[in-house]
Formats: sequence, C-alpha cells, structure tokens
Amino acid sequence: MYTYEELKAFVENCSRCPLARTRKKAVMGKGNMDSGILFIAEAPGANEDRDGVPFTGPSGRVLDELLEGIGLTRGDIYLTNIVKCHPQGNRDPRPEEQEACIAYLKYETFLIKPKIIVCLGRIAAQRILAPDYRITREHGKFLYRKETWMTAVYHPSAILRDPSKMAEAKEDFEKIRQKYQETA
Ligand code: URA
Ligand code: SF4
Repeated sequence: MYTYEELKAFVENCSRCPLARTRKKAVMGKGNMDSGILFIAEAPGANEDRDGVPFTGPSGRVLDELLEGIGLTRGDIYLTNIVKCHPQGNRDPRPEEQEACIAYLKYETFLIKPKIIVCLGRIAAQRILAPDYRITREHGKFLYRKETWMTAVYHPSAILRDPSKMAEAKEDFEKIRQKYQETA
C-alpha cells in the first residue's frame, strides 16, 4: 500500500516510458479525493507540462465553465489524465505509453473509489470504456461497471475547436449532475 503522497512522488520521478525524456514536469492528478467523482482526460498539454497541474490552459477554462454550470468547482472533483507526461506537439499518447502509465491511474482510482467516472474525450473513453468507443455517438450515455457509473463527454479542447459542441456538452454535464445527486 502506498499513500497518495508516495504515488505522487513516483509519478513525478517516473521514467517508465519515453515521454519522460521530453517532459518538463510530470502532471499528477489533482482535486478532491473524497468527492466520489473522477474525471479522466488524455495527457497534459504544454501549459500543464510547464505548471505540473492538470488543465491550467484554455481548455481548463472550458472545463471550469462546464463544472460551474452544474454547481461544481475543481475543488469538488478529482481530475487526472491517462498519461501523466506531455506528448510533444500534443500528439495522441501511444498505446505503449498508455500501458506504461495506466498503473498510476489504477492506483489513483483505488485510493479515490469513485462512484462516477467521467472520461474527457475519445482517448480516455477508448482506454477506459471500450476500445471502439465512438464519442460523437455515445457521449453522455452512462454505463454501470465495477460498481461505478461511467460516461464520456467531449474533450474541452474539442469544444474550443468547435464551439457548437458546447450545447451538447452542457446537456451531458446536466446528466452528470443528476447522477452525482443520485449517488451522493
Ligand atoms: N488536456 C488534457 O487532456 N489534459 C490536461 O491536463 C490538459 C489538457
Ligand atoms: Fe512515467 Fe507515465 Fe510519464 Fe511515462 S507518461 S514517464 S509512464 S509518468
């Protein structure tokens, strides 16, 4: 058994995959360990690589807006990524990098014991929910697995690229709010 602080130190000193060579800072997840709601995105971007904290850039502001819309803040959720180090040029993390890093996410999940898991975007949804998950078709639907409610929503950066996705994202967050109240 490791404590949260030990896990964080492992991540911050990790060199289990080649992303260690190009990162500035590994980005451990952050937030409320007791809220019962875990958000999982794909990988730190350039801002997060500099700051060592998830979602400190423009996509973080979109996430904050969506959370605020359902009466939550960052302090009410726990937020992390599939891989903890920034892939150069924001390319998708490779399967072998995800595989190398997934143990950290599993341990975060073990410590948090979430009632709800929300995948932010396709990469997280395909790693957590199903390898062939189609985010455009399936976003906002809940499934119940391993005693946990799970869903996926559009990635905040996808909303930045295509603001017309915001309305659907708000509807999905409304479903998350309902589930959060039901499981409270
Ligand atoms: N995008 C992600 O997927 N994760 C972050 O932490 C920031 C941006
Ligand atoms: Fe380690 Fe994960 Fe960073 Fe790879 S991405 S070096 S496995 S913390």
